[in-house]
Amino acid sequence: MKNFISLTDLPNFDAALELAKSLKEDPYAFENHAKRKTLGLIFFNPSLRTRLSTQKAAQNLGFETLVMNFSNEAWALEFEDGTEMRGIRSEHVREAAAVISQYCDVVAIRAFASLNNKEQDEAEIVLNSFANYASIPVINMESATGHPLQALADALTLAEHKTLHKPKVVLSWAPHPKALPHAVGNSFVKMMEHQDAEFVITNPEGYDLDPRITKDIPVIHNQEEALKNADFVYAKNWCSYSNYGSILRTDDEWMLTADKMKLTNNAKFMHCLPVRRNIVVADGVLDNSNSLVIEQANNRTYAAQAVLKTIIDHV
Ligand code: CP
Repeated sequence: MKNFISLTDLPNFDAALELAKSLKEDPYAFENHAKRKTLGLIFFNPSLRTRLSTQKAAQNLGFETLVMNFSNEAWALEFEDGTEMRGIRSEHVREAAAVISQYCDVVAIRAFASLNNKEQDEAEIVLNSFANYASIPVINMESATGHPLQALADALTLAEHKTLHKPKVVLSWAPHPKALPHAVGNSFVKMMEHQDAEFVITNPEGYDLDPRITKDIPVIHNQEEALKNADFVYAKNWCSYSNYGSILRTDDEWMLTADKMKLTNNAKFMHCLPVRRNIVVADGVLDNSNSLVIEQANNRTYAAQAVLKTIIDHV
């Protein structure tokens, strides 16, 4: 695996999941594996879980880590080729990626969608430019269209909590005051391709995810109908994909509440965090013992550790 840009880069999804499980049982099993190697973590956007869990994962393997916020600490980067750099962008990604490659053995990058230009977001210019111009492996810590580290952690959480051979898993859109990207939803859908589950997506009209990603997965526009007999409910907001970047509704009708969870088969509740209480999900759901959100965040470490180990084993 040269890079980890998407789940499909994993040589074997099930093997990566098994590795994450075993690393959770024994986090220091490979504590010298990356001795004298350096992981660079570059953030164009904020983070709590991804930043800390990826650093912890790296340290468990013996990596040193270097962290930089490109949003306010680095020179503003130019990504276009052949441009006269007269504006505020002082450094081209060609040099930046080459320089970082000398200081680090692996680089992990977070760069969200702009949500105002679908074509540019889907081109994944930041991730792909680093992948093109860096001479070291590149890891996606959430890009414009995907959050595969989150999805691998979610697979671990599902595996740990599933009691039925074929559970019903519902990915439910939920309200949010800001326009949010599709990355988490997209990667969760891709991860579910590896699960033996009855999987449905529920979202209001106008909020269907990219049909090239959801393919033939049922999309139900009635949330209460979709929640019936669910074993897992994964809540997430995303902005409109068809009316790209737009917020089409601001009411709280789709908030996950304790009453709605009563429609389910005593479902476990999942969310990637951060979550806005009593907007996305009611306190009573988050604070219920069926909520897995803190365990999901814990599993981010072992998912990242599995990816890092797989990367360095293949360099
Ligand atoms: N779930 C997740 O990626 O959290 P952060 O944005 O805090 O990293």
